Amino acid sequence: MIQGEAGVPGTHVFRVMGWEVGFHAEPAALGLNQVSPGKRGISGLERSDKIRRIAVVPGDGIGKEVIPAALKVVAASGAAVEFTTFDWSADRYLKDGTTIPADGFAMLEREFDAVFVGALGDPRVPTNIHAKEILLGMRFKMDLYANVRPVKLLDESLCPLKGVKPEHVDFVVIRENTEGPYVDAGGLFKQGTTDEIATQEDFNTRKGVERVVRYAFELARRQKRKKVLMSDKSNVMTFAGGLWQRVFKLVAAEYSDIQSQHMYVDALCMHMARDPKQFDVIVTNNMFGDIITDLAAALQGGLGMAASGNIHPGKTSMFEPVHGSAPPFAGKNIANPIGAISTAAMMLDHLGFAKEAAKINQAVLAAVQQKKTTQDIGGSLGTKETAEWIADLTSRT
Ligand code: NAD
Ligand code: IPM
Ligand code: MN
Repeated sequence: MIQGEAGVPGTHVFRVMGWEVGFHAEPAALGLNQVSPGKRGISGLERSDKIRRIAVVPGDGIGKEVIPAALKVVAASGAAVEFTTFDWSADRYLKDGTTIPADGFAMLEREFDAVFVGALGDPRVPTNIHAKEILLGMRFKMDLYANVRPVKLLDESLCPLKGVKPEHVDFVVIRENTEGPYVDAGGLFKQGTTDEIATQEDFNTRKGVERVVRYAFELARRQKRKKVLMSDKSNVMTFAGGLWQRVFKLVAAEYSDIQSQHMYVDALCMHMARDPKQFDVIVTNNMFGDIITDLAAALQGGLGMAASGNIHPGKTSMFEPVHGSAPPFAGKNIANPIGAISTAAMMLDHLGFAKEAAKINQAVLAAVQQKKTTQDIGGSLGTKETAEWIADLTSRT
């Protein structure tokens, strides 16, 4: 059990509370109304304005294991955060039909500085309606337009490519997160007949493309990166691709310090598998971004390693590992928690806890190098034990 340290108002108290709320609370007992002051403080110490409030949605499957594991590491970092856990998931949906309560998104924006999500998707809900309403709901209704997915190889042994070293895989994919075919506009005609027609519209707005492309250039500057590459399929999808091409050129002209480049998405996949060191920042649409980030995750050691943030600068943003709920892995203490832990570090960095985030990233690197990890990346520990090892090292640095 992590102990608070007396005499440091706020920080450590809430670290302890974060652990308790995030790890021990019974999600089923938690809901909108459990944002109660009683859960937040320990008597005698004042709440500091610097404490950041995080809504936690473990969700389904391995989300319920990797999120508590990551919260343990956050607690060990000493970051002044407090957690409130919500039980939005397949279990909740199957119990009472709730996906996300009315006012849920507005409440998240009003009450929280960030949202930390595990994964949503459960074979008992074949329509995937809860995942759509919760996960895509957050991305769309909270207007989290930049899905930032860093791709970083921590150790040579994790890359399936021959001779590829950590310095060769270090890029960021910025995926447009509020448009494309994900808007779910379309229709069925003559359904059930042999003449059936299904359409699925691909939405691309000038405003949506421009803001995500600009985000990519700004991130490149901030992270001292040199190149931004826009990827599309404008040789075939001429209307949408044409808009992306024109907007990319216009925005790139404002960033003469950053090199701009274009690649068709099929060629991009080939290059990613042959020579990933050429990439720095990639910006692309929602669908292509989804696909290439699973491929990119493989370069890092698999889906268990990949982190992501869904960001709208200045608004409550949402952080989630790239992987899903991995039903076959669920409940077995075998899921790799590093994707979720690195996501938590990304979230802390976003909230202004750069030192704490760096400590976590260092501890993750040490775990990978010393094989204090789950089996998917060569270790022999369970989900919990990996997180405990990383938390212990984090708390000692
Ligand atoms: P998945 O990412 O859940 O798992 C695919 C495979 O990747 C697993 O079988 C496993 O081999 C590996 N993997 C994933 N996470 C891992 C981890 N932490 N440690 C070790 N190995 C890991 O993708 P899927 O099987 O296509 O989808 C399962 C469900 O999750 C579906 O319902 C899907 O819609 C949903 N999903 C949700 C999210 C999300 O909530 N962000 C993302 C992707 C998929
Ligand atoms: C992801 C996932 C989601 C997506 C699914 C679960 C809706 O694959 O976050 O990468 O397609 O965006
Ligand atoms: Mn995906």
